[in-house]
Amino acid sequence: SDPDLVARATAAKAALGERVFVLGHHYQRDEVIQFADVTGDSFKLAREAAARPDAEFIVFCGVHFMAESADILTGPGQQVILPDLAAGCSMADMAVLGQVETAWEQFTDLGIADDVVPVTYMNSSADIKGFVGRNNGVVCTSSNAKRALDWAFEQGQQVFFLPDQHLGRNTAVLEMGFDLDDCVLYDPHKPHGGLTPEQLRDAKMILWRGHCSVHGRFTIDSVREVRERVPGVRVLVHPECRHDVVRAADEVGSTEYIIRALDAAPAGSAWAVGTELNLVRRMALAHPDKHITFLDRTVCYCSTMNRIDLPHLVWALEELVAGRVPNRITVDEDTAKYARVALDQMLALP
Ligand code: 13P
Ligand code: SF4
Repeated sequence: SDPDLVARATAAKAALGERVFVLGHHYQRDEVIQFADVTGDSFKLAREAAARPDAEFIVFCGVHFMAESADILTGPGQQVILPDLAAGCSMADMAVLGQVETAWEQFTDLGIADDVVPVTYMNSSADIKGFVGRNNGVVCTSSNAKRALDWAFEQGQQVFFLPDQHLGRNTAVLEMGFDLDDCVLYDPHKPHGGLTPEQLRDAKMILWRGHCSVHGRFTIDSVREVRERVPGVRVLVHPECRHDVVRAADEVGSTEYIIRALDAAPAGSAWAVGTELNLVRRMALAHPDKHITFLDRTVCYCSTMNRIDLPHLVWALEELVAGRVPNRITVDEDTAKYARVALDQMLALP
């Protein structure tokens, strides 16, 4: 990365000292990761944000929903900064509060709402987390989805899973032993979600029709192709991948899990990894003794994660040094109160 920018970021961080804490998601660029005080998956970063009550400024190198969660989990004297406001998440944008409320009214009219527990993936707006908290549900991440679903099925008969259909289906079918038929897909763009009252009443998992466009790029053909090309390869994917891809893989887990698996892998082993490219490249460079490749032949970054680059980070840090607070992310008090209920429920999972 540009040595001038590196020097400026180093100087700004030194000037701010303990007042600033920089969090970096594993999908961030290397040029940004080098300045992170902590790196992690979204679960770890949420806990880290909550565990830094002394830092006045939390600079979140990740995407908007993560910065919102950090704002909810931090204290009143702390301010959360997202170095580029255009760093959103297309999956989180697929569930809008009004649509979710419409679905819930439908469940109420059908008489099933009392038995349905809403569970939302961390990758959702604070509004959606607030809705889930108001309706006695829980937030989950890719590293605790099974524990969140176990908890939810102790509270009710059915789960309404938002917004990632793949994480919901993969967890229910591959980790909890449900049938594919136990899951129905609720399409917010169709009347009644495109489902009959019987389908809604009989389903164990009502999955929102959302997905990650980055992980959606991996197909069963990518898995077949790499198995032919690289003998003995182990396929390791993120649970945001489609069901057939995860089923065909050897291992599945969050970004933190993927890193641990590759760190622990024996020298000489071969891996094809189905997750965002910044992370896969970093792992390949860190382990030259292992053969680590990207699961697909095409290049596939998360374009919104990549919005945070070194120039944006330098700008944000230098603004703080100058006494201004740039790109502050705040969640209104009422939404934050209920979103916090759902996030605290997640942090309290066994
Ligand atoms: P994790 O870091 O929780 O595995 O999530 C991946 C992701 O898509 C974040 O947006
Ligand atoms: Fe959202 Fe997918 Fe990017 Fe994660 S990788 S931030 S889910 S678009």
